[in-house]
Amino acid sequence: MEKIMKRSALVAVLLLLHALLSACAPADSRPVLPGGSEGQEEPGNGGGDPDVPQPGEEPRTLILYCSRSGNTQRVAREIADQTGGEVLEVVPAEPYEEDYDAMLARAQQELAEIDRGNYPPVSTVVERFDDYDLLIVGYPIWYGSMATPMQSFLHEHAAKLSGKRVALFATSGSSGMAASVAEARALCPDSEVLEPTLLLTSADLPQMENSVREWLGSLDLTQNDHNDNDDMQSNTIRLTVNGRSFTATLEDNSSARALAEHLAQGDLQVLMEDYGDMEKVGPLGFSLPRNDVRITTTPGDLILYQGNMLTIYYDVNTWSFTRLGHVDGVSTREEMLELLGGKGTVTVTLSAGTAQ
Ligand SMILES: Cc1cc2nc3c(=O)[nH]c(=O)nc-3n(C[C@H](O)[C@H](O)[C@H](O)COP(=O)(O)O)c2cc1C
Repeated sequence: MEKIMKRSALVAVLLLLHALLSACAPADSRPVLPGGSEGQEEPGNGGGDPDVPQPGEEPRTLILYCSRSGNTQRVAREIADQTGGEVLEVVPAEPYEEDYDAMLARAQQELAEIDRGNYPPVSTVVERFDDYDLLIVGYPIWYGSMATPMQSFLHEHAAKLSGKRVALFATSGSSGMAASVAEARALCPDSEVLEPTLLLTSADLPQMENSVREWLGSLDLTQNDHNDNDDMQSNTIRLTVNGRSFTATLEDNSSARALAEHLAQGDLQVLMEDYGDMEKVGPLGFSLPRNDVRITTTPGDLILYQGNMLTIYYDVNTWSFTRLGHVDGVSTREEMLELLGGKGTVTVTLSAGTAQ
């Protein structure tokens, strides 16, 4: 009995010594893999590559934002609180104007320069994004567009963001963010821009905590085909109205696939007019396969009506027809009507992919 006690005491001392030595080991000593022992690979860890996210693992998240007056920064911090992600501010090389009118004038100038391909410099640089599975990118809306510092940052880092999943959020006085979603897709054509996006207008900011929680819950972070750019491209189409482009994500059905195949042959122009204070509708000029079911539309829905008519909904309607897709970043009547140039007859040009 005494012998057993002595042996137990010895084991306890050895364990204590081992623990002390481990704690004092230099940081660069042999790695201990998560859940495994020294030098052993975790079972099922894709060959032991710690960069490969495992099923059920929380994605490693970087929250990038720019913010002149603090609204977007507050949302970024809320997202960080809820995700445990890291936060990085994208800062313009030339500090924001303190005077509001001067800032408006500068923003207009910078947006015009971006249209000419000249991006105002930012002082934030990220060497690599390998440590992150998900980038959450936030910005204020400036004149309907993504604020210029974030446009510059995405432009400069597009190659490094290739194959990465990017979730977008924005703050605004009241404007929608659909045009900025199209800008993000064009700036980072090889990233997977996730749906849905999150817009918080001034009126929404007080309920930010709930909106952020709901949004994070609705992001499909289980998608694992984010390196398949061919699929992504055929899943997104571009619509242009009065010279302004925005994107839509197609449904996964035979009707939408047939539309994508048509667009792969060339652009399609549809003359569309208002109907019933809820939609714009016009003839495609050909028929698509129908997958009609009774559905209730939401603003932004692209609908196939009677197999040969394209309908863009800016309000709600319940009918039996086929959903072809949804305009990215649109959830309200005002946002959809703004992109369509308001009420009245318009020509809508549909194009394959996202490139302008
Ligand atoms: C240069 C500039 C342009 C803006 N343009 C718009 C706009 O087109 N539509 C809108 O709703 N709000 C507009 N706003 C308001 C901002 O989008 C809004 O206040 C936003 O929440 C500011 O975010 P921040 O505090 O992170 O800078 C603009 C603000 C500035 C400074």
